[in-house]
Amino acid sequence: MKFDTPAGINPIDQERVVGQPHTRVEGPLKVTGRATYAYEYHDVGPNVAYGVMRGAGIAKGRITSIDVREAEAAPGVLLVLTYQNVPKQATSGRGAVPQLQGPEIKHFDQSVAFVVAETFEQARAAANLVRIDYAQAKGAFELAQVKDQGKPVADAPDVRKGDFAGAFAKAEFKVDETYTTPDESHAMMEPQASIALWEGDRLTVRTSHQIVHWATRGIAATLQIPEANVRVLTPYVGGGFGSKLFLYSDPILAALAARELGRPVKVALTRPQIFNHTSHRPATIQRVRLAANGDGKLTAVGHMTWSGNLPDAGSENASEQTKLMYGGENRLIETRLSVLDLPRGAAMRAPGEAVGLLALESAIDELAEKIGMDPVAFRIANDVQYDPSVGPSRPFSTRMLVECLRTGAEKFGWDRRNPKPAQVRDGDWLVGIGVASALRNNLMMPSGARVRMGSDGILIVETQMTDIGTGSYTVLAAVGAEMLGLPIERVQVRLGDSDFPRSAGSGGSWGANSASAGLYYACENLRAALAQKAGFNTAEVTFEGGNIVAGGRSVPLGEAAGPDGVVAEGDVTFGDLDKKYAQAGFGAHFIEAGVNIHTGEVRVRRALSVCAAGRIINPIAARSQCLGGVTMGIGAALMEECVVDKRFGYFVNHDLAEYHVPVHADIPDIDVIFLDELDDKSSPIKAKGVGELGICGVGGAVANAVYNACGVRVREFPITLDKILPGLPRYDA
Ligand code: MOS
Repeated sequence: MKFDTPAGINPIDQERVVGQPHTRVEGPLKVTGRATYAYEYHDVGPNVAYGVMRGAGIAKGRITSIDVREAEAAPGVLLVLTYQNVPKQATSGRGAVPQLQGPEIKHFDQSVAFVVAETFEQARAAANLVRIDYAQAKGAFELAQVKDQGKPVADAPDVRKGDFAGAFAKAEFKVDETYTTPDESHAMMEPQASIALWEGDRLTVRTSHQIVHWATRGIAATLQIPEANVRVLTPYVGGGFGSKLFLYSDPILAALAARELGRPVKVALTRPQIFNHTSHRPATIQRVRLAANGDGKLTAVGHMTWSGNLPDAGSENASEQTKLMYGGENRLIETRLSVLDLPRGAAMRAPGEAVGLLALESAIDELAEKIGMDPVAFRIANDVQYDPSVGPSRPFSTRMLVECLRTGAEKFGWDRRNPKPAQVRDGDWLVGIGVASALRNNLMMPSGARVRMGSDGILIVETQMTDIGTGSYTVLAAVGAEMLGLPIERVQVRLGDSDFPRSAGSGGSWGANSASAGLYYACENLRAALAQKAGFNTAEVTFEGGNIVAGGRSVPLGEAAGPDGVVAEGDVTFGDLDKKYAQAGFGAHFIEAGVNIHTGEVRVRRALSVCAAGRIINPIAARSQCLGGVTMGIGAALMEECVVDKRFGYFVNHDLAEYHVPVHADIPDIDVIFLDELDDKSSPIKAKGVGELGICGVGGAVANAVYNACGVRVREFPITLDKILPGLPRYDA
């Protein structure tokens, strides 16, 4: 079904199951260890072999010699693959990710050898016995040094509206500041892992991936085999945050070796390999120029962002949210991409907005202070109900930013904030509060599902959709239950199998809404088939209490389905409602932070997020998404940073001891409030993306709270104590 006109009243609006809080339907499996993750299958064959990937020890240059004799002779070794003997792969196209493509080295930890042995320990030991010599070439590893060679970016076109330079020059109040954000790592719990098994010319890969059809496509393209011959299974994913949108060496090397050896091969990437071998969020440099007059209205909005990446890779579009967030007639929004020889940068949770809002929301705070205006009032004064970079011809589908700010300010006790920094002290701590707006573009993707009603009255849902820890199983169970008039316990959801209908998968916060919409249409078809089979006029029936009901007659669903059951499929594609209407989720984040007067250490003391993201399909899962987002936002503000070795071009801190993410002790109680909202332009579910909205803006609120606490404005993220201390007044104990 093509969704190209706003949704009318439909069965989801009943909210008997949807919109109600449900704990994870797969929760018991997870907490008892019975949810099987990619590396944990121990029954794919009696003779599974173990592979270990060896990555390049230089960032740029060539392999000059490679000697595998010692590795091949090591105990248990079955196969050593290098560029000299790797089977043929596609070099590019359709998501191909060829491995062992030496001798040329394009980034640190690029795969250069793959050792397969009877046991993991043997493979790991032998991988270290491959002798490799390199000739190093000079590479570019510092964004600041290459940024001025940056080129415009096709997926983030510049906006030029009005006369930015003129308006900026003559404005009464202005800020012109540059902010930097570092490379960040996804650092999800479960590393990339794959088990490959060949049966004739058919390949099955158990792996950990966010989007099943991207995985089948990329694996098939790389191996140059028909996509129909590749089955991907990824029923449980231990976190992704964008890193598992893509393929890395594990499924490809496992498949190549399994084919050579005629036995299944399993491989997991190591924690250090996650940092340098896989992808990361690219660093940015952002210049924000904002101008306003004394009435608090923005007159000029300028945001320029620079990032760098490998020659064939994309940009961190950190100025995108500035196109939509605030009014202002004169606008100049630019995105530039330079070539860097660091490991590949790619999507990480809320790519673009997550780091763009660190800069924009800091700058908004700085300008509000210059005008002498309250930062909440300043944001409200510059709200706009249409896409300000286009004009009133493109209204927002829904936009409740002002309501989010007002609700949050009231609940958080914003009126108790002292606008003058460094005034509030609690023992050894200076205490401040800060606010930031949140915006995350709402994205929708085609999605399909298959549904089956059995004679037992149980609804089975099958779709390629994944659950990356977000709650997809429970969301889809609720939608299926709502559509068929069943309790949620009577729905079984099966995910992450390429044999099921193609789905949106999990990415860009489009998963829950898109996959639910596909399921909605599949259920509509099932309802019609069941009603017809039971002899009803399909226009009149309702589905309630496990029955089809019309005209005083009631037939149990299992009976209507009959002994063989009834199967239906359905899918959704999307028309141009996202062109006619700007679609985004909005929110407001409030943070109270303490800065230690002696050490400059920052502790977040309170956090509140108020979000408006359309219908909230499952309030428990949505709240969890926001708790995770806020936690990640605090990490981005205060801790997370891949430190670049500028001589050798790699990330030095490649484990969780040195790449800091918040732990429980770093995070206070977080409160999340969802405002009632339905977005009928988004999908028949009337929902919007939630997950990434949770991170957007949080770090800006932390930065603003730190400034309010101690009067030190740090524009180089993360805000670590070494950057605060020099500006901190001396306090006597
Ligand atoms: Mo998201 S960065 O698409 O997992």
